Amino acid sequence: MTATVFILNGPNLNLLGTREPAIYGTATLADIEARARARAAELGLAIEFRQTNHEGVLVDWLHEARAAGAKAVLLNAAAYTHTSVALLDAILAIGVPVIEVHLSDPATREPFRHLSYVGMGAVAEVKGLGPDSYIVALEQAATL
Ligand code: DQA
Repeated sequence: MTATVFILNGPNLNLLGTREPAIYGTATLADIEARARARAAELGLAIEFRQTNHEGVLVDWLHEARAAGAKAVLLNAAAYTHTSVALLDAILAIGVPVIEVHLSDPATREPFRHLSYVGMGAVAEVKGLGPDSYIVALEQAATL
């Protein structure tokens, strides 16, 4: 059976392409999804690619990743990365490896972005590479 990787995106990432392009670039989330789909096909992986602006929906999708027997989750929780104990608890609960993903490198930005609750539960992080962060993370997921 083909292994599935969930790629979950949090708040405001639906605005990529026009959102602060000096920080996040001009690729849209649809562009990133297309690239991830192409790379996943080469790696023999299926992907479930989603975006929501709602914290609890991300929690529900992490639970769903476990129920679906997902191989891994790539999680760009966006701002919830820095605030959400609920997401950390979900990551710790599901027993599915989670790779933290960011387009920018939060560690080089404002101090409030330096704390990552997601990172406390993730097995790896890929950040600062723009859309390539998703591709590198997918390649890491393939090796898990
Ligand atoms: C982000 C970084 C976060 O600090 C920020 O809140 C985002 C996007 C990134 O992909 O670089 O919304 O997760």
